[in-house]
Parts: sequence; structure tokens; C-alpha cells
Amino acid sequence: MEKNLVLIGMMGSGKSTIGRIIAKSTKLKFYDVDKIIENENNLQISEIFKKKGEDYFRKLEENISVRILKSSKSIISLGGGAFLNYKIRNEIKINSISVWLKWGSDILIKRIKNSKTRPLVNKLSEKELIKLIDNRTKVYAKADYKILCDKLNKEKIIKKILEIYKNEKNNSKN
Ligand code: S3P
Repeated sequence: MEKNLVLIGMMGSGKSTIGRIIAKSTKLKFYDVDKIIENENNLQISEIFKKKGEDYFRKLEENISVRILKSSKSIISLGGGAFLNYKIRNEIKINSISVWLKWGSDILIKRIKNSKTRPLVNKLSEKELIKLIDNRTKVYAKADYKILCDKLNKEKIIKKILEIYKNEKNNSKN
């Protein structure tokens, strides 16, 4: 299959960890867009937010995500806010399949609330984070596939993604 498999969802949903494992088992190339942004700018995401502001970060995220999405046969994990961007969503439609790792907001909050590397977590209160999750949920719902992760362990989530990948691969042969 030529298409990429793109993992989307909130911070703390496991996109990078799971993406890396899926790439290993499928022998596909793996792109972690947040890491690429950091490497190309020689700055951590929290430093980009601090020094240049969120709007600047979002433009970088747009440019780099759109560029990486022009790959093929790759696993791509996007930053949590990337799918909110219309240009990124449109680029995904061209040559990628999107999979949303959906978790309940209580689990997500527990996972991210002590994160030092995520500027939005430092900036927003718990209530505001819950609101952000709610608002984003409506957009994440546009993904091609959704996996309800709350009751699954990592292995089961991976298994489900691999099933999606295999089905898509078979369908693309017909
Ligand atoms: C963000 C998520 C982060 C990173 C940045 C903004 C967001 O990525 O891109 O801190 O808006 O949700 P992860 O989802 O990989 O943590």
C-alpha cells in the first residue's frame, strides 16, 4: 500500500510510542512530527512556544506536517493539535489513512497533568484542558478510523491498528 498511516489524538494518547512500535513491526518508515520540528529548529517545543509563541509554532507544525504527509508507505505521528489545521487534514486526505486514538478525558488528564514538556498543559487549568479535549473531539471525529482505547492495553491497541493497516492494504490491491 502506498498510503501512510497517520496517528492522531490528544497529547498523552500514545501516538509516538505506538507509532514507533507499529513502524517496527510493519517495517515501514516512522516520522514523529513533533521530534522533526524540534530537530529542525534546534529547540524543544516548549522553548518554541516560549520564545516565538503558539502561532509561530502552529505555522511550523503546518509546514512540516504537510511536507511529511507527502511521503508514502510511512507511519506518521502528528502533534495533538495538528489535525485541527484544515491544510493538514486536507493533505491527509490525499495519501494517508488517519487513525484517532480516543481516550476519556479523565485518563488523558491524569497522564499529561504533570508533563513538563507540553506548554499547553502548563498554560491551561484542568477545566480548560477538559474543554479543549471536548472541542477537539468534534474534529478528531473526522478521522478515517477511531480506536476506543480506555479499556485496551497497549498490545490490543497495536493489534487493532495493524488490523486496520492490513485491511487497507488488501483493499488497495482490488
Ligand atoms: C500539542 C501537542 C503536542 C505538541 C505541542 C502542542 C497540542 O504534541 O505538538 O505541545 O496542541 O495538543 P503531542 O500530542 O505529541 O504531545
